[in-house]
Amino acid sequence: MDNRVLVRGIGELLTIPAEIGEVGEGVSGDDALGVIRNAAMILDDGRVAWVGPQSEAPEASYVEIVDVNGLVVMPGLVECHTHLVFAGNRAHEFSLRTQGATYEEIAASGGGIVSTVEATRLATNEELMVSALARLDDFLRHGVTTLEAKSGYGLSWEHERKILEVMSDLNQQHPTTVVSTFLGAHTVPLEFRPDTERYLDVVCEEMLPQVAEAKLATFCDVFVETGAFSLEQGRRVLETARDLGLLLKIHSEQLTHTGATALGAELEAVSADHLDFCTPEDARLLAEAGTVPVLLPGATFFVGHTRFARAQMFQEAGAPVALSTDYNPGSSHTRNLWLMGTMGCVYMGLSPAEALRGMTTNAARALGMHEEVGSLLPGYAADFIVTGVGNGEELLYLYGHNPAKEVYKSGRKVAH
Ligand code: NIG
Ligand code: FE
Repeated sequence: MDNRVLVRGIGELLTIPAEIGEVGEGVSGDDALGVIRNAAMILDDGRVAWVGPQSEAPEASYVEIVDVNGLVVMPGLVECHTHLVFAGNRAHEFSLRTQGATYEEIAASGGGIVSTVEATRLATNEELMVSALARLDDFLRHGVTTLEAKSGYGLSWEHERKILEVMSDLNQQHPTTVVSTFLGAHTVPLEFRPDTERYLDVVCEEMLPQVAEAKLATFCDVFVETGAFSLEQGRRVLETARDLGLLLKIHSEQLTHTGATALGAELEAVSADHLDFCTPEDARLLAEAGTVPVLLPGATFFVGHTRFARAQMFQEAGAPVALSTDYNPGSSHTRNLWLMGTMGCVYMGLSPAEALRGMTTNAARALGMHEEVGSLLPGYAADFIVTGVGNGEELLYLYGHNPAKEVYKSGRKVAH
């Protein structure tokens, strides 16, 4: 019995290959996106089996034929940096910022991360599950088929474990692939202040071994920043995690230059994220180490900052730039990765083609998954978006809009 599905009538198929030769050459257009016009795609058992011009599609009997009537088809989006699971909201902080308060001032006066920790500790698994499922549905409607989610609003083993368990249940229950990151070192919880080292003893000696033992996360992340953790404290967390077999990520150079990017590169982190205060030397170190720079324009924009990471610096160094929303209740409350793409173009100097790579294959690379998702070539997961446009150039042009019309995960339609 032949189980193959034919998707035909594709005006432009953006295959978005993981490799385009010299990454960072200021790529644009067809090469960067691997465009096939008047294309067809054959799916088999949830994977891409064949892509090419429709006129060359092999004759066969298909269980299903999907005709997309000339629209653009592209890989499902990969959202590589979110703080998905939390309770409450911080809308009042947004109001305060419009009145002149800064993100740092609000955090220093009891708002910020610790206020979300307070709300999240009070929430049950069930409550966290309900709100996170609704958020994942919204991401999925926007075309996100793989999403990374960080803990970090529990900050005690009881509550960090609760969040990590919710994330693993989400991965089971929702069509989206959810990749978990342990961010116990997000900030120092109030009951430990000012004794940061004592909290890090708990993170390194109690939490991390249990995260690794129960396989509750793929990655470990740490927030290195003035007011959060120092470079040496970040090193301690990441080295402990690495020795326990976790892969590494780092929040680096978000608000100031701390040297965290160089640390991430030294420890061969899979990605270093934020990078607004990065130097060209940092970019060179990332490229050399194969650490993916993840740029988060929403986090810069929403806190009212004007210093955005410049994509060109990373491209000149030869590093593939990824983009993400940084979805969280404080610094970036958006689930619209398309808007991040447009902002990456306008504020960070990406071309639309580079931005689309940043939301697909390069974001997959920031999760170590660029050979599984983020491209539509034979062997990849059949995670794809039928967009509402006929020309790929239009995807980021109607900004703030969601161009995903239908979303498929492993060959199955999961949102429209
Ligand atoms: O990525 N930088 C640290 N953490 C988040 C913000 C978390 C929050 O404000 O709740 C970020 O911007
Ligand atoms: Fe973040």
